[in-house]
Amino acid sequence: MTIRIRPIEPDDQSEILALVRERWGDETIVVHGEIFHVARLEGLKAIISGALVGFSHHQMSEDECEIVTLASIQEGLGVGTALLEALEKLARANGCKILFAITTNDNLHALGFYQRRGFRMVALYADQVKYSRKLKPAIPEIGLNGIPIRDEIRLEKTILA
Ligand SMILES: CC(C)(COP(=O)(O)OP(=O)(O)OC[C@H]1O[C@@H](n2cnc3c(N)ncnc32)[C@H](O)[C@@H]1OP(=O)(O)O)[C@@H](O)C(=O)NCCC(=O)NCCS
Repeated sequence: MTIRIRPIEPDDQSEILALVRERWGDETIVVHGEIFHVARLEGLKAIISGALVGFSHHQMSEDECEIVTLASIQEGLGVGTALLEALEKLARANGCKILFAITTNDNLHALGFYQRRGFRMVALYADQVKYSRKLKPAIPEIGLNGIPIRDEIRLEKTILA
């Protein structure tokens, strides 16, 4: 089984945005007080046998690359890992020194996933989600694993240019 990773193209948008709406309630992601409109971000898609099986969106600044979305449609097959590896390569090629993601305290699976792939928890922003809800009231009170969504955690990996 080959997982191919390619940039998201305009033709992919409607399928990917529908999946974003399904997972995040609408087409925005709110983290660290910032609203990201997913349709305006660059991203990668994962394909197995011609079918979309995952995607990610990112924002790069001079030194850092932020992972804004990372989603697998068929979990446990290596799709998330393949997307992350491709993004790390891209970020390094663009001169970034840090690859980072913000996740919320309820997402225990993501906390494990990133840490097993070289990321460290470098900051916890207590009660940050209270502010995110002011910008996006649709963020639920209770998240994954039955845990109240309250805090943001920054996971980062130093990558060499
Ligand atoms: C986090 C996420 C992207 C991982 O994608 P994935 O395609 O399952 O990733 P992989 O297959 O490469 O690895 C998944 C890990 O879970 C394990 N796993 C096994 N079966 C699994 C299953 N049924 N479901 C989920 N994970 C499973 C894998 O063995 C692997 O373990 P490892 O970390 O010890 O290697 C995916 O779970 C997801 O879309 N989560 C929801 C969105 C999210 O939380 N994104 C991250 C924050 S932005």
